[in-house]
Amino acid sequence: MEAILAEVPKDAKLKYRRRLGVWSYSQLLPEPRRRITLNEGGTPLIRISRGLFGKFEGLNPTGSFKDRGMAVGVSLAKAIGVSNIVVASTGNTAASASAYGARAGLRTIVLLPNGKVARGKLIQSIIHGANIMGVDGYFDDALTEAMNMFKAGKAYSLNSVNVWRLEGQKSIAYEIYEDIKVPDNVIVPVGNAGNIYAIWKGFWELMQIGLIDKVPRMIGVQAEGASPLYETWRRGSGVLIEVKEPKTVASAIRIGRPVNWLKALKAVNNSNGLLITVNDDEIMNARSRLAKRGIFVEPASASTYAAYIKLIKNGVISNDERTVLVLTGHGLKDPDSVK
Ligand code: F0G
Repeated sequence: MEAILAEVPKDAKLKYRRRLGVWSYSQLLPEPRRRITLNEGGTPLIRISRGLFGKFEGLNPTGSFKDRGMAVGVSLAKAIGVSNIVVASTGNTAASASAYGARAGLRTIVLLPNGKVARGKLIQSIIHGANIMGVDGYFDDALTEAMNMFKAGKAYSLNSVNVWRLEGQKSIAYEIYEDIKVPDNVIVPVGNAGNIYAIWKGFWELMQIGLIDKVPRMIGVQAEGASPLYETWRRGSGVLIEVKEPKTVASAIRIGRPVNWLKALKAVNNSNGLLITVNDDEIMNARSRLAKRGIFVEPASASTYAAYIKLIKNGVISNDERTVLVLTGHGLKDPDSVK
């Protein structure tokens, strides 16, 4: 070791490049007076196998992609002078809002469906001091209550009906572009359906600027027991086909009435994309396979790999193409799902 150190030139400078992450793209984002940031974004694109990459969003400050949009959303909330923020959540949005709300000095109210939130996510909301309210029913019921609080003027909504959140999330597309330009396919787990739209919008904007000449095919994945968007798309329905009692091991995407369904369909249709479902066994199997490659994600994120395996098998996509899985949340979020 000493021999190695002796060879380092005396004038060598150790350089740590501070990654700006989401804010690297401030020209394409709303610019708040002051940024509320935890250095979100700048996540690695990890090679999984030939033609396949995972965008590991579990490495964001609170362990999910939600931080990208929450940083922008909370910054703007602070700028307009609100003091209370509210979100309904399957867990990750709550964890993120709790952390960024704490950082901004705001009171954060999170509405969670009773008994349906993974333990890791729940303790994040607790430690950051959020005001936690349990709601009987599903995420969709919690969202109705959160919107009622917003409409009554009690708190500012930071669910993905808030467009600033989606603006932050589109930075996923910019980062993929910087790493590998335009992949053929991007596979995204779909819950409330905001993220697939945000990522498509990011690529679409790069095309408007003239940096790229096509967008990737956007492929949305839902769990078999919670597939309102898939059914709506498959049947070509003009109204959302709701799922009354959504059911899946992937609690993050256990949603029956996605609010951003129209935006998500736009992303899929305008990119020549598609929707697909996978069952819980396929999700857990895919998660184990990713873990064997050193990548630990929560079940919702593993749905993308399950979908990839299925699409390769059916010949819909090939491994000559380049495909990115958006691995939305860290495996440590949901320890109880590991058997
Ligand atoms: N993956 C994870 C890990 C998520 O937490 C979510 C959404 C999604 C995918 C789906 O993204 O809703 O934009 O289609 N979680 C929300 C929450 C609903 O409350 O944390 P989406």
